Amino acid sequence: MKRIILILFIIFLTIILIFVFNKKDKITAINDFQKIPFYKKELQKEYEIYKEQTGYNDKKVVLEVNIGINKPFYVDTKPSINLNTNYILVNKYNYLKRDYVPENLVILDEYAKPGIRLNKEAYTLFKEMANDALKEDLHLRIISAYRTYEYQENLYNSYLKYDPKDKVDTYSARPGYSEHQTGLVIDIDNTKYNYNLFHLTKEYNWMIKNAYKYGFILRYPKGKERITGYEYESWHYRYVGKLIAKYIYDNDITFEEYYYQFIDK
Ligand code: DAL
Ligand code: ZN
Repeated sequence: MKRIILILFIIFLTIILIFVFNKKDKITAINDFQKIPFYKKELQKEYEIYKEQTGYNDKKVVLEVNIGINKPFYVDTKPSINLNTNYILVNKYNYLKRDYVPENLVILDEYAKPGIRLNKEAYTLFKEMANDALKEDLHLRIISAYRTYEYQENLYNSYLKYDPKDKVDTYSARPGYSEHQTGLVIDIDNTKYNYNLFHLTKEYNWMIKNAYKYGFILRYPKGKERITGYEYESWHYRYVGKLIAKYIYDNDITFEEYYYQFIDK
């Protein structure tokens, strides 16, 4: 009888110890979030929940919660900050107001369809890039760049005539949520094929290898849809400046990942 009581006691003690150590592990893991350089105290609870849901490592949890990936697109949105800088972020969590018109827009006079406007610095760098591409007999042309809120509104609504809203959301931004409204974005073609065949062209291959040297990044890459919120767009480039573009290129990350590691932290 005494032996049975002893065995039961040992089992009971073991269960208690497992429970205590398990809990201690969890507490340690929760506190570890604070070691991540871009940790935000106010998001601690969200980190814990997202960690529980995904099992991702702490850095990935903190980064993705900072970006907003733990929540659906277009739900918890806020106005974009860093207006009129090269590192403004506009996506399905950060929007521009109807009346936001960027400073320093210029009308494009070469390497572009008529009547298009773009940020002055971005255009200077684009022209350098297009000149260098031309030396290799490659033709880059801007077919769309700055778009007003109203233009994007009409565009988005026109797509809704052909596709259901959840489909349109995979390829077109809702008004206020388009990066085109920043004036820092270009859609390009090779002057011969439709822009949505750009990935089949030599110009595309050249851009993939060289665009970052002029400060441009492929903004919606393949395999990153979960982060960017958009289908792959081989023609849509964003000007961020040479330093940021090189970092994004070297590390194969999205602008969202760069932004929440180094700009909004
Ligand atoms: N096609 C991109 C996502 C836009 O509408 O801004
Ligand atoms: Zn675009």
